[in-house]
Amino acid sequence: MINELEKDIDRILFSEDDIRKMVQKVAAQINEDYAGRKPLLVVLLKGSVIFAADLMRALVIDCEIDFMKVSSYSGTHSTGVINIVSDLRTDIAGRHVIIVEDIIDTGSTLFKLKGLLESRHPASLKICTLLDKPSGRKADVSGDYIGGTVGNEFIVGYGLDFDEKYRNLPYIGVMRNS
Ligand code: IMP
Ligand code: MG
Repeated sequence: MINELEKDIDRILFSEDDIRKMVQKVAAQINEDYAGRKPLLVVLLKGSVIFAADLMRALVIDCEIDFMKVSSYSGTHSTGVINIVSDLRTDIAGRHVIIVEDIIDTGSTLFKLKGLLESRHPASLKICTLLDKPSGRKADVSGDYIGGTVGNEFIVGYGLDFDEKYRNLPYIGVMRNS
């Protein structure tokens, strides 16, 4: 069957094999750093679910997973507050928490989320992102575990969407006319 989405993709940035290698690299670092500590993976919906599913299967340590959906308040001035659309079920006090994100762009969502989760007193809090887009950064936040870096272009696939579309592409590509 012909892939209905492929016609909108200009070029492939990370093939399935490239992604596998990025996931393995990040998982190896987490396996080493968290050996014996049972971290909680906090997966940010929706973009990170595919990455998180692969990452979790590449971990050989005892770990748990929970999900959260947040959005920044829109408006003319930033309140420094994020809107929790769906919160964690897990009490993170005393836990080693790893936020799992698809891509860090401006960093503003993660900056605010970090503040919110810190107020719940985790034992530690780190950020794991499949991709980093440093050219877009506005807030002072950086990933502790980073799969790969992208330039100033809009990418889709492997969980990343444009208007809820293209999340199911197995690779990551640049959209035509982006
Ligand atoms: P920010 O770091 O607060 O600007 O938000 C990052 C979020 O924006 C990511 O979790 C993605 O959902 C989305 N995003 C940023 N860059 C891209 C992209 O190139 N393609 C698809 N989504 C993106
Ligand atoms: Mg996202």
